[in-house]
Amino acid sequence: MNGQVAEDTFGNGAMAILKDIEHVQIVACGTSYHAGMVARYWLESMAGVSCNVEIASEFRYRKSFVHANSLLVTISQSGETADTLAALRLSKELGYRGSLTICNVATSSMVRESDLAYMTRAGAEIGVASTKAFTTQLVGLLMLVLAIGQHRGLSEPHRTAIVNGLQALPAKLEEALLLSDEIEALAPEFADKFHSLFLGRGSQYPIAMEGALKLKEISYIHAEAYAAGELKHGPLALIDADMPVIVVAPNDELLEKLKSNVEEVRARGGIMYVFADKNAHFKSDATMRVINVSHCDELIAPIVYTIPLQLLSYFVALIKGTDVDQPRNLAKSVTVE
Ligand code: M6R
Repeated sequence: MNGQVAEDTFGNGAMAILKDIEHVQIVACGTSYHAGMVARYWLESMAGVSCNVEIASEFRYRKSFVHANSLLVTISQSGETADTLAALRLSKELGYRGSLTICNVATSSMVRESDLAYMTRAGAEIGVASTKAFTTQLVGLLMLVLAIGQHRGLSEPHRTAIVNGLQALPAKLEEALLLSDEIEALAPEFADKFHSLFLGRGSQYPIAMEGALKLKEISYIHAEAYAAGELKHGPLALIDADMPVIVVAPNDELLEKLKSNVEEVRARGGIMYVFADKNAHFKSDATMRVINVSHCDELIAPIVYTIPLQLLSYFVALIKGTDVDQPRNLAKSVTVE
């Protein structure tokens, strides 16, 4: 892989559209929305385009501004989610330069109705909780950064970082899976809790949101996610020893800021579980349990840190005896509003 995206990666004629793109509007629901939120950090910092991300059920019912040469991107595991599909259909009347879907089901409505498509090829995802669909969506979104960026001055260091990051990813995900035993051992500490708080900063903020969604979805523990810089603006009031605080802490440029936020939680008697790069130098103590995640490039950290959070939800759900594959009240594919 040399960083040049193959002509047919996003479908026939994709480059004719992608070369014109100056703005990206991402629309999705649930986990797929969180993938879009990560992509906003990537697209704006590397690909030289502005990017908005919106929940489909909001986007479809409001009058939105369409930027010149804008690409409407839907992200969906199933390709059938009613609100996302409606947003795609609506976009055709709104003057977008084109539409792209990032999807896991080749025969789906979204793939058929979009100008362009990227297939995540995660394999059939049966469980209601979206897991491998999410990580493969993120890979597809990095490919989109390469594809748009190659027409908009993506820098050589960024191109190299994406290519190297994608090549390193399988090994890094294997290493993350090795945390399984350690995470299983701490899961009992969550099983009797009713509330939890997930914190992250930058591109890890959506990963905190995704971790919270997974925990609530399969273990039925109330989980909220906040950008750690927001703590002082309200959520600090919730901190006590009965609400575990999960912190996503790769070794990135926001690490020192995040460490200040960790101290804010500690000072209020919070109990923390910190998923941290070992070079970030967090130490376990009475108020903080550190789970060391093997070092990876900042760029792919959102994908790598997703794995331990998924494992945490899984092991907590097993202890609670909930149905991990088919949580109550939920459907795999939300084909009605
Ligand atoms: O098939 P989609 O990706 O469009 O589905 C969107 C959401 O319904 C889905 O991600 C949901 O949030 C998952 N159950 C989360 O695990």
